[in-house]
Amino acid sequence: MIEFDRVSKRYPGGYEALMDVSLNIAAGEMVFLTGHSGAGKSTLIKLIAAIERPTGGTVLVNRQNVGKMRRGAIPYLRRNIGLIFQDHKLLFDRNVMHNVLLPLQIAGFARHDAAARARAALDKVGLLQREKANPVTLSGGEQQRLCIARAIVSRPALLLADEPTSNLDSEYASEIMVMFKAFHQAGTTIVISTHDYAAIVAGNARVIRLDHGSLQT
Ligand SMILES: Nc1ncnc2c1ncn2[C@@H]1O[C@H](COP(=O)(O)OP(=O)(O)OP(=O)(O)O)[C@@H](O)[C@H]1O
Ligand SMILES: [Mg+2]
Repeated sequence: MIEFDRVSKRYPGGYEALMDVSLNIAAGEMVFLTGHSGAGKSTLIKLIAAIERPTGGTVLVNRQNVGKMRRGAIPYLRRNIGLIFQDHKLLFDRNVMHNVLLPLQIAGFARHDAAARARAALDKVGLLQREKANPVTLSGGEQQRLCIARAIVSRPALLLADEPTSNLDSEYASEIMVMFKAFHQAGTTIVISTHDYAAIVAGNARVIRLDHGSLQT
């Protein structure tokens, strides 16, 4: 599903965040991405979602060359990707429920179906009682859980999570991992970047390790 062929990413200013990275992630795989701070984990995830483009090599997602994709095609790519980021861009001008509903409204779901799905997603992350709250009033960990609800609500085939448990206490962190595993068992392809060694051990999945932009084998 995801193929990196000799991928490099040099940011403006000359910093080489990824060097000559080749890897394959099959449909249905669950993969942990680890490495020190600055190793290139977020960069690798951004290349998959076409948030950044490679400066060398090719990135294929479902055989589409996402590094060369037209701007107009990117929203269609993203419809099949659930994104969970460190700097979660929640919308503070609408409540918790509406943050989760938004991706469904964009995808054109019927109102009733969308509401049921959004409620189920909020319930999964333990935020159903806060559905009417403004996201500003949520704690960091609650905001992170809201992002997770928003990412999974449209049941994407591919889930990309950049340190999804970094603001969570260990109880919620392990619940989130259990949730990811359930998605994995349901056939979702999942890439999770994390420093959390306990999560990796508990996840019992493949580990991809980056070191200063290079793949460690
Ligand atoms: N937009 C950018 N412009 C310039 N340099 C960048 C940019 N984004 C990342 N970098 C640099 O690229 C390198 C890799 O960054 P990246 O965010 O991918 O690391 P990371 O493994 O996710 O680190 P962390 O664990 O701290 O999140 C870092 O040295 C970073 O400073
Ligand atoms: Mg990062």
